[in-house]
Amino acid sequence: MPALAYVNGRYGPIHEAGISVEDRGFQFADSLYEVVAFLNGRFLDWGKHLWRLRRGLAALFIEDLPTDAALAAIARRLVRQSRFADGLLYIQISRGAARRDHGFPPHTPPTLAMTVRRFDFRQRLPQLEKGVAAISLPDQRWERCDLKTTGLLPAVLAKQEARRANAFEAVFVKDGQVTEGGSTNIHMVDAGARIVTHPLSARILPGIARDTALALARESGLEVVERPFSLEEARAAPELFLTSTTAPLLPIVSLDGAPVGNGAPGPVCGRLGRTIWTEVARQTGWRA
Ligand code: PDD
Repeated sequence: MPALAYVNGRYGPIHEAGISVEDRGFQFADSLYEVVAFLNGRFLDWGKHLWRLRRGLAALFIEDLPTDAALAAIARRLVRQSRFADGLLYIQISRGAARRDHGFPPHTPPTLAMTVRRFDFRQRLPQLEKGVAAISLPDQRWERCDLKTTGLLPAVLAKQEARRANAFEAVFVKDGQVTEGGSTNIHMVDAGARIVTHPLSARILPGIARDTALALARESGLEVVERPFSLEEARAAPELFLTSTTAPLLPIVSLDGAPVGNGAPGPVCGRLGRTIWTEVARQTGWRA
């Protein structure tokens, strides 16, 4: 079964799906997206993703949208038809297709597109044991990083630089402080085994995996401190890790080529990582 797509009412193979060349998502990045994991055919944190999508749409004044139930029905149908057990659902909503003009076009329905692709979450388990490398780069993004817009060029360039450096992620630094990763949230563990993470603000995306990781950390008795931390603190931290939908928790064991801690995943990452995968299994019934 190939990857599938839905665009404005039509379902079909992904390579047959298309949108207008005048779509405002294409021309202006006037659009928002979500990436939702499904494992064992079940969505992880569907309600939280929908909440973030609605919040972003309201901030961008994109209206006339399908109901939550309609969005869920389309998403479920795509996953069912794909027959993929584990994968990623991509949702994109733009302000629609209209003659090119910066201001909002009147009476234009939004474009709704979704795709499903297979994704192997099992690859994350050995990575959790081994850890990954990251590099730091200046955060060149705009001032509303809390909105999940498709204007991803700074992230695209940063991730490519990370790839060139054989690193898994680029860690963004703004005014000397670590904001987040190119497509992940970044957290450190301090000398007192507290998790330190950038507070929610316009400088970071309110990550769903971040929310889950912090909630599980608190439940398991770990202290969580939400404050900005500097690149120097990150370099000196005993543990550093990232979270995202596609990588629920991965230890960062090298930053700019220098080892983090002793260069191997630390105990907090190990424990929290296992707790997170237990939660994934509880929600979806998934087994590695
Ligand atoms: N990226 N920060 C940024 C800049 C992101 O793009 C993402 C997600 C996250 C993590 O958010 P979440 O935990 O909700 O996945 C943080 C997605 C996966 C992507 O662009 O593919």
